Amino acid sequence: MNPITHAQLDWDDQGRPHSRVFDDVYFSDQSGLEETRYVFLEQNRLQERFAALSAGGRLVIGETGFGTGLNFLCAWQLFEQHAVAGARLHFVSVEKYPLSHADLQRALALWPELQPLAEQLLAQYIAIHQGFQRLILDNGRVTLTLLIGDVLEQLPQLDAQVDAWFLDGFAPAKNPEMWTAELFSELARLAAPGSTISTFTSTGWVRRLINAAGFKMKRTPGIGHKWEILRGEFLGWPEDVPAPERTKPWFARPERFQGERHALVIGGGLAGCATAASLATRGWQVSLLERHTALAQEASGNPQGVLYLKLSAHGTALSQMIVAGFGYTRRALEHLHRGVDWDGCGVLQLAFDAKEAQRQAQLAQAFAPNLLHLLDRAQAQAKAGIAVEHGGLFFPEGGWVHPPALCQWQASQPGITVQTHHEVLELRNVDGQWQAWDGERLLASACVVVLAGAAEVQRFADLPLKRIRGQITRLPQTDQSQALTTVVCAEGYVAPPRLGEHTLGASFDFNNDDLTPTAADHAGNLAMLHEISADLAERLHADRLDPATLQGRAAFRCTSPDYLPIVGPLADRAAFVQAYEVLRKDARSVPDTPCPWLAGLYVNSGHGSRGLITAPLSAELLAAWLEGEPLPVPLSVAQACHPNRFAVRGLIRSNAAKA
Ligand SMILES: Cc1cc2nc3c(=O)[nH]c(=O)nc-3n(C[C@H](O)[C@H](O)[C@H](O)COP(=O)(O)OP(=O)(O)OC[C@H]3O[C@@H](n4cnc5c(N)ncnc54)[C@H](O)[C@@H]3O)c2cc1C
Ligand SMILES: C[S@@+](CC[C@H](N)C(=O)[O-])C[C@H]1O[C@@H](n2cnc3c(N)ncnc32)[C@H](O)[C@@H]1O
Repeated sequence: MNPITHAQLDWDDQGRPHSRVFDDVYFSDQSGLEETRYVFLEQNRLQERFAALSAGGRLVIGETGFGTGLNFLCAWQLFEQHAVAGARLHFVSVEKYPLSHADLQRALALWPELQPLAEQLLAQYIAIHQGFQRLILDNGRVTLTLLIGDVLEQLPQLDAQVDAWFLDGFAPAKNPEMWTAELFSELARLAAPGSTISTFTSTGWVRRLINAAGFKMKRTPGIGHKWEILRGEFLGWPEDVPAPERTKPWFARPERFQGERHALVIGGGLAGCATAASLATRGWQVSLLERHTALAQEASGNPQGVLYLKLSAHGTALSQMIVAGFGYTRRALEHLHRGVDWDGCGVLQLAFDAKEAQRQAQLAQAFAPNLLHLLDRAQAQAKAGIAVEHGGLFFPEGGWVHPPALCQWQASQPGITVQTHHEVLELRNVDGQWQAWDGERLLASACVVVLAGAAEVQRFADLPLKRIRGQITRLPQTDQSQALTTVVCAEGYVAPPRLGEHTLGASFDFNNDDLTPTAADHAGNLAMLHEISADLAERLHADRLDPATLQGRAAFRCTSPDYLPIVGPLADRAAFVQAYEVLRKDARSVPDTPCPWLAGLYVNSGHGSRGLITAPLSAELLAAWLEGEPLPVPLSVAQACHPNRFAVRGLIRSNAAKA
């Protein structure tokens, strides 16, 4: 797979963009705005559909070809004008050649009346890399999910129910690879009942192919120099075409929750705070229960954590999750104070041995340079501001974060009540309500509970989570150490100073349950500092530091066996084993039996060493499961993170063991 590149544009004498690859215009010569409004908004009857939404209701629009975002901004503007408070717009758009930030800014400057919305989009149009990228706009009232890549690669990975399709993309004659039966059958697969569709073209073969996919298209008068255009609606999957493969019941969506939108979230670290925020922006009341006196006291309590991307060149589920999660977290950080709460100073991963250098070279082939690129030793030194022994891989948009600040910001969203000093010891389900008990005291109750207490979720759910103790060391900055300008990582990591201190991390210990910081771990961290840079160690006077007197903190990471987070709805384990017993005999069978869900019980945990990157997006995934929304990650990634994966593997393994 080639890395995604930005759109290559030419600008005409009136400042309008033109695609070099497709030799076509992004919008009409006459009036892009009028054309968009007529072709896409009017033909999909969006004004009346937005006006008909209830508070808590939403409409999902899908688009092929995000381009300059003009269609999106026009739809958003109409939504803003006609939808009630509490309604939400969800816009999913595919784009193979995303515009660079500068080009997007230049293109959108053409439409002064869209400027307030364009500014919000531009402020979040950061870290847009291949795969699924979710942007939260207007405090969560508008969600934009960009699928960066070829439409025929991306749409098959989408799990969504689309109410209105904008079939854009350059003219069929200029872009015949896109306008295919395969694409239209994807639009049909994703169409919600009663879904509508429109497009600017009226080409006969396009109309016939869309009709064959299950839509009923009509020619309708066009606008400007378009004589006719097409609009239509989805009638249903055609009988003569084999139905798309059914989702396995253990990964199927539980019935959409219809009750009072009140949830208990147990655990006030990154996973819990992010979950609370994702639900609250969807209009939920959230009780966030944390056993300590404040949020972010355990793994999420370090002074600095690194936005560190451990990627694979092979597009694994974990790697896709990391690219999507990195973008999502990076955009959230724009709401925090740079310099104290986070810094986008870049992250340098040193190629400290031949194997690492080879891995990095593969990554540089697989990803675009604006996500990561190789630096030789001299370039690495110039970037980091200190002497290093090796070149490495540089992530210009990476940096460090003060995780408690992110937690605080998330937990401060309207609708969240933080209840500290609340340790949940037992969950009881009484008449469809989950009750959280602390011995004899009923702490809170609601129909929905999200377990976000890291490894402690095992009190309530049978999940394979392991605790790994880790310790960081706090090193006071010196006059010389302030020269460090990026995070630098080898086996460990060290960050530029925050409030006068560098964070140096982190140890790994599977066999120690004691969280008192140890001199041995400080010594180990100092050894990693020497490996990163002898020069920096000297600048920090590391040889004169006594590990016994160093300051630091220890906490538990919480890791699943496959290192992916565990996110989604929970099933009753005993009933599950009974329902899918047949998997023991035949690993490939897909029984009809619906999954025995524990109604209203969800989990967001297992974020290992990269919670800054995976926990916030996992919260969006969880909210999408709960609300029946488009998933923010490819379906295969959501399934790879699904809590049921372990029970399924267990059944299949018992089959293999017998064989
Ligand atoms: C030393 C170290 C260094 C790290 N460095 C990085 C890094 O550089 N970059 C990165 O991305 N990640 C890093 N991580 C990982 C990251 O910190 C975690 O992935 C993340 O904090 C996990 O968040 P969490 O909310 O799942 O868990 P936690 O932050 O542990 O939060 C769980 C919360 O649940 C509460 N809780 C548990 N049970 C209950 C209960 N029954 N009732 C009430 N409350 C309960 C706990 O008190 C706790 O506050 C590091 C971790 C460690 C330990
Ligand atoms: C006419 S422009 C879209 C205009 C856009 N909707 C707007 O509001 O500005 C067409 C877009 O489709 C994208 N595109 C074309 N072929 C594609 C494909 N196969 N997969 C994904 N995107 C594609 C182009 O890169 C371009 O940005």
